[in-house]
Formats: sequence, structure tokens, C-alpha cells
Amino acid sequence: MTKNKGSNDFSDIVYGRKSVRVYDEKVKIPKDEILEILQKATRAPSAVNMQSWRFVVVDSEEGKNRLKPFIFRNTSQNDSSAAMILILGDLECYEYGQEIYDKAVNENKMTAETREAQLSRIIPIYQNFTEEHMQKVVTIDAGLVAMQLMLVARSYGYDTCPITGFKSEGLVEALDLDSSRYYPVMMVSMGEALEDGYDTVRIDAEQITYFK
Ligand SMILES: Cc1cc2nc3c(=O)[nH]c(=O)nc-3n(C[C@H](O)[C@H](O)[C@H](O)COP(=O)(O)O)c2cc1C
Repeated sequence: MTKNKGSNDFSDIVYGRKSVRVYDEKVKIPKDEILEILQKATRAPSAVNMQSWRFVVVDSEEGKNRLKPFIFRNTSQNDSSAAMILILGDLECYEYGQEIYDKAVNENKMTAETREAQLSRIIPIYQNFTEEHMQKVVTIDAGLVAMQLMLVARSYGYDTCPITGFKSEGLVEALDLDSSRYYPVMMVSMGEALEDGYDTVRIDAEQITYFK
């Protein structure tokens, strides 16, 4: 296999990304680098910029052992990756609304008037979503950040696999987090590839696109 040395070429990143399921166990990723990758990933868009994603980076043996009972088909990713990144949706993400919009004002990216107008409209709407609706909102945000995470990781020379094949029930509690607040959407394994991902195909865009 050809080693992924990282790249800033967009086509390289897009066409080179494949789901990798076996990683070099010896390769660890420093926490600072993981945070840098996540920081870039969170440039992903989110509904009303509420950034409802939360991450649990499982990069220790102890953490991987905690995940084991919840992972059925994806044992090679858990066993060999440098990190399993669980992406949670924060069902109370609006608690960060003030902080996010204050930051925008402080950095001169938004006027105080716009902040007031936006927050007074958005927060009550978010607070009144049903749990099911909020789960949908955070799932979309999480999907976007996951995709961006996988592309950013590739630019750093790492490979990833998106994973929904895990048992959600009890998982958040097992990680000592509040399951009434955090909704597990997906995991992304990340590490240095030891095996190539499969070559996969796509249906032609023409076949699945309607122009109206
Ligand atoms: C939402 C989602 C869930 C997935 N879950 C798993 C999984 O549990 N285990 C796995 O090995 N691959 C999983 N995959 C990877 C897909 O099998 C893979 O993306 C697809 O076959 C296309 O291959 P590629 O990613 O290499 O382009 C998942 C992908 C997505 C988008």
C-alpha cells in the first residue's frame, strides 16, 4: 500500500479517502494534534452555528476497553486505531448559544444588535424542539463535522473510518457522561493505515440527480 503522507491537494484528499479498518497500532497521535484536527473539523457548518457536536476521544487502552462491549463488527478499528472519536450531539446545545454569539461580537464578526435579534429568535425555538426533532438536528450537524474530520485527518496523513455499527444503549453512561443530554451519533476511527481501504464505486451523479 502507498503511505498517506498527508496532502493539501483537495482532489487528492477527496479521491484518496477510503474507509480504513486496520491501522498501525504503534502509531499514536499526540493530543495536541488531535485537537488541531478537531479544531479544523469544526469549521464545518452547523444549523444556526450552534455547533451541537461534542467529541469523546478514546485514545487509551483503558478507554478502548470501555468501548469494547459496545462495538460488535468494528473490532479491528477499535483495537488498532490511534483514536476512536465518538461524536455526540448535545441535545442542550443552545446552552452555548450566548457564548458563541458573544464570541462573534467580541471578534467583530457580528453586531450586538444582530446577536440580540438572532438569540432571542433561535434559543426559544431550540428549547422547544421535541427530543426527536433535536436528535435530527444534531445528527445532521454531527454528520457534517464527521465528514470534515475525515478529510482533515487525511491532510495530516491519517486515515479514518466512519462507524455507526455500535450499540448506543448504555454507551454514554459507560463514558461517565449524561445520556439525557448527549446523543451518540457516530464514531470515527483514526490512525495511520496499515491496510488499504476497499476500492469502492459510486453511482453516476447523472443517474441520481434531478435538475428542475
Ligand atoms: C453513516 C456511516 C456508517 C458507517 N458504518 C460503518 C461501520 O459500522 N463499519 C465499517 O466498517 N464501515 C462503516 N462505514 C463505512 C462505509 O462502509 C463506507 O464509507 C462505504 O463502503 C464507502 O467506502 P469508502 O468510505 O471507502 O469510500 C460507514 C459509513 C457511513 C457513512
